[in-house]
Amino acid sequence: MNNARLFRLTTVSLLLTVLMSWVAACSGPQPLSRAIRAEDQDAYVQLLSRGEDSPRLAFYARRAEELGISPSDAEQRDLELPTRSNPFSARHDPSAVSRGAVIYESHCASCHGLDADGRGSQLPAPMPELGFHSFGDRFAVTLHGGAPKKWFRILNEGATGTPYNEQGDVVQMPAFNQTLAREQIWLEAVS
Ligand code: HEC
Repeated sequence: MNNARLFRLTTVSLLLTVLMSWVAACSGPQPLSRAIRAEDQDAYVQLLSRGEDSPRLAFYARRAEELGISPSDAEQRDLELPTRSNPFSARHDPSAVSRGAVIYESHCASCHGLDADGRGSQLPAPMPELGFHSFGDRFAVTLHGGAPKKWFRILNEGATGTPYNEQGDVVQMPAFNQTLAREQIWLEAVS
């Protein structure tokens, strides 16, 4: 075999290897169970069992204890987080993905489906997937890619769904600003 042919063959097989690993890495969402670490799940169960009226208030109470400040100061700090850019990133804080996935499992999976496939048990009919499979538009639980910035607003303020039948019935996307702290909402959109 001459050198030029060998070079071509090596290049082609290298390209194929790169392509195959790219396809493998992007072949769909990671199951939620892989994103969730047991300690984050336990911590969230404990948070919910505090008996506060919402996960948001429970979050402020726990943060207040951790920092030795009042719950209203904890709330104030939370509300100082930005609304346009995510203060968390999976690269700098991999546990943020897991903490977000735990919240997703508790508050979102009933509608959006465990793996964000739009087939939650609470829905009368499947709804669109959460842009899960399109490149660069993946949900946090996929562990790569990124949720669009507008997700913060939708989670915070809610949205009217697309009708799922000819009568025009819709399921509403609830507003989570009274249910979840701003930090918890951002954790849902970690990328
Ligand atoms: C009661 C059911 C329900 C729950 C619970 C719910 N959603 Fe939704 N969500 C919807 C519906 C319905 C839509 C609108 C879908 C449509 O456009 O038809 C939606 C839309 C969205 C969108 C916008 C999708 C897009 O492509 O623009 C995002 C992001 C989203 N939800 C994330 C979440 C997250 C994260 C949670 C949990 C904190 C959550 N949702 C909880 C029903 C729900």
